[in-house]
Amino acid sequence: MSRLVQLGPLPVASERPIPETGPMTDGFGRRIEYLRISVTDKCNLRCVYCMPEEGLPWLKREQILRYEEIAEIVRVMADQGLRRIRITGGEPLVRRDLPALVRMIRAVPQIEDVALSTNAVLLTEMADELRYAGVDRVNVSLDSLRPDRIDAISRRAGSADGIFRGLEAAERAGFAPIKVNCVVMRGRNDDEVADFAAITRDRPWHVRFIEVMPTGENLGVSADEFVSSDEILENIGRIGDLRPVAGPAGNGPARYYAFDGAAGTVGVITPMSHNYCDRCNRMRLTADGQLRPCLFGHAQTNLRDPLRRGEPLEPLIRQTLRIKPERHWLVQGSDAGSGGLLALSQVGG
Ligand code: 5AD
Ligand code: SF4
Repeated sequence: MSRLVQLGPLPVASERPIPETGPMTDGFGRRIEYLRISVTDKCNLRCVYCMPEEGLPWLKREQILRYEEIAEIVRVMADQGLRRIRITGGEPLVRRDLPALVRMIRAVPQIEDVALSTNAVLLTEMADELRYAGVDRVNVSLDSLRPDRIDAISRRAGSADGIFRGLEAAERAGFAPIKVNCVVMRGRNDDEVADFAAITRDRPWHVRFIEVMPTGENLGVSADEFVSSDEILENIGRIGDLRPVAGPAGNGPARYYAFDGAAGTVGVITPMSHNYCDRCNRMRLTADGQLRPCLFGHAQTNLRDPLRRGEPLEPLIRQTLRIKPERHWLVQGSDAGSGGLLALSQVGG
């Protein structure tokens, strides 16, 4: 299959000077204190905006970082200013004994916040243990409120049932705040944005609508079904006035709004229509140990092999800061700016 482009170490054009000591700062003066860790590239769903129905060429077991290796990278980065972690995938709960990793990360004193992004299908059986291990917050992907549509979008019959039970389990386990992520697609769920927003009047949920980003495997959806945040907010505005609010902790890229007196908020994440890269505070660690300064593009540094050879990681981390691009160059309906990425599941969505 020639269209399967593997992410690989490719030359990176621009390198900018950065501070060589002290808190991690990139060449554009952005402080990096947040790491998203993908613990697996596999998933138990097949969302239409993410991976193809037949899956992707999965990483082999020996390519994937062991939990001890991830924890070592976190320790080194914590000494250089890392403060917050998000565990993602693929679907992180399909990896065995995730609470063990959470406990290792929690044992790093500088880490103030550990969050998890999940599709919630496996959360029912794991919520309490994850909470006890030290996960502070969860983000749950929920693309529709209608079970038949969830099953269709995720291309797994019965997933809706698991997701709704998982959400309940998350609330019971005391994760707060609960953020719900909804990728809006024309003709699939765009008629539900007001229904989603209405939930926030009574429930302390933070519902975030995400503009679909083009990757190699979703070009049809990202080209033909794109819905902008402006259109989403306009539709929600029909059921009530939204005013801008600060939003929940986590200072990610979302802009937040709320109805008067509402328990929760409505957010939009606008990678395509309103670029927010100038506020970027993060890097990513892929399941196979590549440190990526940006979701998109070719820049990445192999930490796994040097780590396994016992070499120091600090210079490699600084090198990654030096090659962090100013912004992504995604183009709607094209994978030109994605850097060979097939799906966000390859790098942690
Ligand atoms: N565009 C936008 N969001 C995406 N996600 C995955 N792929 C895409 C994409 N192409 C996000 C969704 C999903 C999470 C795992 O990653 O929010 O819920
Ligand atoms: Fe799985 Fe998330 Fe990709 Fe859906 S978006 S297929 S839940 S990794």
